[in-house]
Amino acid sequence: MIVIKSAAELERMKVSGHLAAVVRDSVAGKVSPGVKTIELSDYAGEVIKSLGAESAFKGYRGYPGNICISVNDAVVHGIPGSRRIDLGDIVSIDVGVKYDGFIGDTALTVMVGVTEPDVLSLVKVTEKSLEAGIAMARAGNRVSDISHAVEKVVQANGFSVVRDFVGHGIGRQMHEDPQIPNFGSPGRGAVLKPGMTLAIEPMVNQGAASVDVQADGWTVLTRDGKLSAHFEHTVAVTEGAAEILTI
Ligand code: MF3
Ligand code: CO
Ligand code: CO
Repeated sequence: MIVIKSAAELERMKVSGHLAAVVRDSVAGKVSPGVKTIELSDYAGEVIKSLGAESAFKGYRGYPGNICISVNDAVVHGIPGSRRIDLGDIVSIDVGVKYDGFIGDTALTVMVGVTEPDVLSLVKVTEKSLEAGIAMARAGNRVSDISHAVEKVVQANGFSVVRDFVGHGIGRQMHEDPQIPNFGSPGRGAVLKPGMTLAIEPMVNQGAASVDVQADGWTVLTRDGKLSAHFEHTVAVTEGAAEILTI
């Protein structure tokens, strides 16, 4: 069942979305060579607290971090720890905050002094694929129109979409219906309606699409050890263009 949010609920989603974006961008600004991922997570915890919000991740199915930090071949759900960021790394930061009963979920991939053209391209293409997906999140379209738009951008640039993890509806719960794969034929799935709120989140691999979950039970790694990027926005379907809530 897809929950339609009222105008008042959408206003509240806008606030939680904005706070998630503030945390995301604050943490992104702290990413630099030498910093440990746990330091980034601790900082995120302080910012979240100072905003009067809560981490939507900490304690979710036992997840231990305030945020997810996935470096290089880590795709998503990296647990913050003693690893230090290095020059040339790509660092995906995924933030979920709960405020006033509603959740905002957003991610980006930060490049740390990256010069290699293929790596720059991977990160840019992933962000572009998110934009293409959001452009299809319009009333009257179907869920897989988003999926197909994302996949098209990724394929056209020679990268691969991760198939084992998907975007999702979001609201009072972090993961609501519908699931939003980043691949597939257009014209399938639920018809989008104003008041639906969706987390669209392409995970894009430099090499093959296959991934594995590490022994920690959370960190998702590319099977071939190549790099992966991740961008995510929470958006609202409206009568016109989708509204990005995590800005
Ligand atoms: N934010 C992730 C998503 O985009 C979910 C993270 S769950 C956690 O759906 F437990 F790892 F935090
Ligand atoms: Co997320
Ligand atoms: Co999400």
